[in-house]
Amino acid sequence: MAEDGHLHHLLKLAGLEPKVLLDILDQAETYLRPPGSAPARDDCLAGRTIANLFFEASTRTRASFELAAKRMSADVLNLDVNTSSRIKGESILDTIYTLQAMQADIFVIRDASAGIPALIAAKVEPHISVLNAGEADVSHPTQGLLDLLTIRQHKGGFDGLTVTIIGDIAHSRVARSLIEGLSILGNSEVRLAAPPGMEPDPDHYPGATITSDIDGAIEGTDVIVTLRIQRERIREKSSLMTNPEYLKQYGLTEARLERARADAIVMHPGPMNRDVEIAGAVADGPQSVITRQVTNGLAVRMAILATLAGNRNLA
Ligand code: NCD
Repeated sequence: MAEDGHLHHLLKLAGLEPKVLLDILDQAETYLRPPGSAPARDDCLAGRTIANLFFEASTRTRASFELAAKRMSADVLNLDVNTSSRIKGESILDTIYTLQAMQADIFVIRDASAGIPALIAAKVEPHISVLNAGEADVSHPTQGLLDLLTIRQHKGGFDGLTVTIIGDIAHSRVARSLIEGLSILGNSEVRLAAPPGMEPDPDHYPGATITSDIDGAIEGTDVIVTLRIQRERIREKSSLMTNPEYLKQYGLTEARLERARADAIVMHPGPMNRDVEIAGAVADGPQSVITRQVTNGLAVRMAILATLAGNRNLA
């Protein structure tokens, strides 16, 4: 965020003004097109360069940032850990300075270490923007925005909603960013239901109910967000239960979903482990909005790029 209140870097949702979030959601709506028609385009980043630096695995976030950049007519550079010099020992800042010297304008960063996007934002030249595309278990602001857009489309707003997140909340940057956004935009009730050992730090979720009673947390809720077990962030894997056992005890099954409101929506950020945290029949069922989240993710990323271009007269 810049001092004038305009978006310059996007590192986390916490601390942003409601208007900044709402403007991005509104702009994202303008980039949605019916299935089968040509995707929206906007040439506001023509001649600008966006560098996508993914030092951690990603499918949809990376693909959607790449498509968003191309649909905004930017030049796009994609680096991942397998092809970058970081594995040869070059520091991430040296990689950034190298790309800055090639006139990159926007860096999109995913990294397994906390603090990397903020470090880069502090070191780059002032005209450069940094977008956080997933930071350890701390922050994933564009995911938070796409989740907010999906909820708003189906529920009309945020006030008075009950939002239940189930699964590995302790290691989830997705949950962190969604809850930051919800607390900025409305007055919703948040229930966090995690298996033992996966409960979040309550300090990260002021006002939320934290429980291991998955059934109780789903009762009468409007929105259910299911989360993958973040195995890559769990050191002691031997204590994890088997997949069928996890589904039975903590997964979103069709029987559990019946406890929610009849018009409740089911979300998942992906990648999804079918029949572990969510039953395949629920993921493919009428209440699932999972593919809608993917569509919204691209529109939200286009909207963020357009916001940066507009704020800084990049075009
Ligand atoms: C999430 C992530 O990477 O944090 N996925 C995503 O960005 N769509 C969630 C996950 O990996 O489980």
